[in-house]
Amino acid sequence: MPDRAAGDEPQKVFVKSYGCQMNVYDSARMVDSLAGAGFSETAVIEDADLVILNTCHIREKASEKIFSELGKIKLLKQDRLASGKNTTIAVAGCVAQAEGGEILRRQKAVDLVVGPQNYHRLPDLVARARATPHIVDTEFPAEQKFDFLPHASAQVTRARGVSAFVTIQEGCDKFCSFCVVPYTRGAETSRTPQQILEEISILARAGVREVTLLGQNVNAYHGENPDGSVVSLAGLANMVAKIPGICRIRYTTSHPNDMADDLLEAHATQKALMPFLHLPVQSGSDRILSAMNRRHTARAYIELIRRVRASRPDIALSSDFIVGFPGETEEDFLETLKLIEYVGYASTFSFKYSPRPGTPGADLTDQVPEDVKQDRLRKLQDLVERQRAQFNQAMLGRRISILLEKAGRLAGQIVGKTPYLQTVQVNADSSMIGEVVDVIISRVGTNSLFGEMIRTGDNAGARRLENV
Ligand code: SAH
Ligand code: SF4
Ligand code: F3S
Repeated sequence: MPDRAAGDEPQKVFVKSYGCQMNVYDSARMVDSLAGAGFSETAVIEDADLVILNTCHIREKASEKIFSELGKIKLLKQDRLASGKNTTIAVAGCVAQAEGGEILRRQKAVDLVVGPQNYHRLPDLVARARATPHIVDTEFPAEQKFDFLPHASAQVTRARGVSAFVTIQEGCDKFCSFCVVPYTRGAETSRTPQQILEEISILARAGVREVTLLGQNVNAYHGENPDGSVVSLAGLANMVAKIPGICRIRYTTSHPNDMADDLLEAHATQKALMPFLHLPVQSGSDRILSAMNRRHTARAYIELIRRVRASRPDIALSSDFIVGFPGETEEDFLETLKLIEYVGYASTFSFKYSPRPGTPGADLTDQVPEDVKQDRLRKLQDLVERQRAQFNQAMLGRRISILLEKAGRLAGQIVGKTPYLQTVQVNADSSMIGEVVDVIISRVGTNSLFGEMIRTGDNAGARRLENV
């Protein structure tokens, strides 16, 4: 069955993202770049002439899920073929980078495998894969894809929301011994401040009010100005804060060893920088931290938290934890619980260690049995859940500013976010989406807070936005 000729009805692309926010951002940029090649996005996979799975390799489960998904898409491809339509199947993201040609061997229906650093070549690769299937492009090119990807014009139309993610830094040179990211995303690189500011300005003009700056090691950001001077994350945040319309800035994910003094200072002085910090520590045991190659001690982390809190006393903290890293004893695990008790987190992500091929951790002999990992995960999650509930409960009766983000489930309800990233339901008119308003927290539910808007007629946040 020949492919449709160019100039026929527009081609449709369906993209599904797995894993982290960077994949969500990348998916949007892929759609942008394909728009130039005549593709429009569809949310209905059955209608798609091109299906892209943007995959995650971080844990075995995430990675294996892709192959069962591909099995289903293969059947879809056969169905469409029976009615005379071709479907091109592409695998992008971190599984693509890690497994490369192996994906084609496991699932022959796949036409294209493309790694995260090659998305600027996507239109060309899709055309080639349609002519001769089984194309693999996972090399790390010398050029930076961001210099070639189109500007965020199409992304603007899909931004629609008031909160957007923008990648500012990608890749990682840290090589924690459990982690695939340095292999799947490559070496650490930073986009230029000019490129980032231009993109955020476009988003702001399309109604974006909050921007989350993304990077695998976002606080290692070091963007270069045209004159060769270097801008830190704090410097960039201060520049982003000047963009008309942007009133909230967040960043994720940070490494403890890259929390520079000027970033702590920015948390004290830059009002647009939200008081929320996701600062993964993984473990509270020095022995395990060292085996993980995290390159800091539990004490150094706690001292850092103390300095962060000195800069911004109300800051909400968040972290990632891994239980059952090879060699982790009950004593090591108790150290982790102790650290959690000491710090007090507003939210956390926790995982059972998953050995990843090619990482040093996978070769360690003293792997922890599954039932022990499960038991530790449950204990850890019980503790952090109690802390989360406590953090939310402490909001009751407080006056707090929220960014109204989108319509809620009930008519007349809008969902907003506190500076601490909590979801708040509030009765408000949908015309107010995009405004920052003050509410009094009247009720604390399991997953969200409920607020009563304060109608003072002197809402500084709302007025500031009206001026934009
Ligand atoms: N760049 C971020 C995190 C990337 S991965 C950082 O440096 O913190 C997100 C989280 O997944 C990690 O923080 C870690 O807790 C978890 N993770 C990574 N590899 C893992 C593995 N092999 N098994 C279990 N969890 C893992
Ligand atoms: Fe992975 Fe460590 Fe790099 Fe984070 S810092 S992406 S956990 S190697
Ligand atoms: Fe997953 Fe790659 Fe992100 S492995 S977490 S999609 S960087």
